[in-house]
Amino acid sequence: MRTPFVAGNWKMNKTVAEARELVSIMGVGLKAVKGVEKVICPPFTSLLAVANLLGGTDIGLGAQNMHWEEKGAFTGEVAPAMVKEFCKYVILGHSERRQYFGETDQTVNKRVLAAQKNGIIPIVCVGETLDENKAGQTAEVVRRQTLGALQGVEADFAPSLVIAYEPVWAIGTGLASSGENAQLVHGQIRALLAELFGQAAADKIRILYGGSVTGANAAEFFSQPDIDGALVGGASLKDDFIAIAEAASK
Ligand code: PGA
Repeated sequence: MRTPFVAGNWKMNKTVAEARELVSIMGVGLKAVKGVEKVICPPFTSLLAVANLLGGTDIGLGAQNMHWEEKGAFTGEVAPAMVKEFCKYVILGHSERRQYFGETDQTVNKRVLAAQKNGIIPIVCVGETLDENKAGQTAEVVRRQTLGALQGVEADFAPSLVIAYEPVWAIGTGLASSGENAQLVHGQIRALLAELFGQAAADKIRILYGGSVTGANAAEFFSQPDIDGALVGGASLKDDFIAIAEAASK
């Protein structure tokens, strides 16, 4: 069976000092939650400090983005080998990257392939905007983004993938989707993964829900058959993240 997975996406929050403080407070409660894979994704600048604090624990680290080139003249970018020094995971194709930094299905795909090449597990984000949702295009958009991101992924790498379905209208708005609506999309994603990689691989891939997940609504999502955990933004900066991990362990 799939091990539940909760990842905290800190986004552009926390200095090193603040990151240390948060991890020292939250780490104790998080460590006590068993049977769940727990991952924290701080900004690049805090990875070293957080890695030092989490060394020897069962809490993993992820980056929030990564460039696809190995190295060179790409001012401001971070290469796969640099991410790999600290992180088992990397969030790719988050809607904020697509919305504010011009990422496309193609550039997300390049990053996914670079992650595969470097043995970093991508947490690939997909999800429709409010307009697309209202226009009834959710299934089509999620299918296009998933297919686009995963082009060229090898069958033997596929089972380790993590996909996050994050409806853009639910991110940071306090308006989460419902368990039932999210399940519908998760079921479609799993069916697509089965088309791409076969049912056995698709059954191993964790599909997370993201978008205003809190300790109060987490259980509603985790009770759905194809929702294997959560990608958490706002609530990952608070104790609420522990409550979400606890809900995933049940
Ligand atoms: P949120 O963000 O939990 O603050 O809605 C989720 C995300 O962007 O991953």
